[in-house]
Amino acid sequence: QMNIEAEIGQLEDKQCKTVVWRGKPVYVYKRSAKQMRDVEETPMSALKHPETDVARFPNNRLLAVCIAICTHLGCIPIPNEGLFGGFFCPCHGSHYDASGRIRQGPAPLNLEVPPHKWVNDETIYLG
Ligand code: FES
Repeated sequence: QMNIEAEIGQLEDKQCKTVVWRGKPVYVYKRSAKQMRDVEETPMSALKHPETDVARFPNNRLLAVCIAICTHLGCIPIPNEGLFGGFFCPCHGSHYDASGRIRQGPAPLNLEVPPHKWVNDETIYLG
């Protein structure tokens, strides 16, 4: 099945839910108020792959939606690990922030945001 609609429900702060889309794991991750401040206040000059958080997640702002495949060599990053309060890839040490943006380590690009729409606050359409 190419496109899916998934019921995410209500997530706690820092809770990460995995949805499988086109054979790939996709994380839906609820950011806390502090994480939102951090990702919104990060200057573009601090980013290897400069993207604003609002450009990545223009709707349903508290929920980051990322393909859970490290952009270095494809391992699965671990939520709530690493130096930037987001995701950490243990294979070669890539640290991503709570927006899924690469902050330190060998990964060249931010975690990819899959094409998605929020059907309502708790239901996502991927595709
Ligand atoms: Fe993630 Fe290398 S695969 S750091």
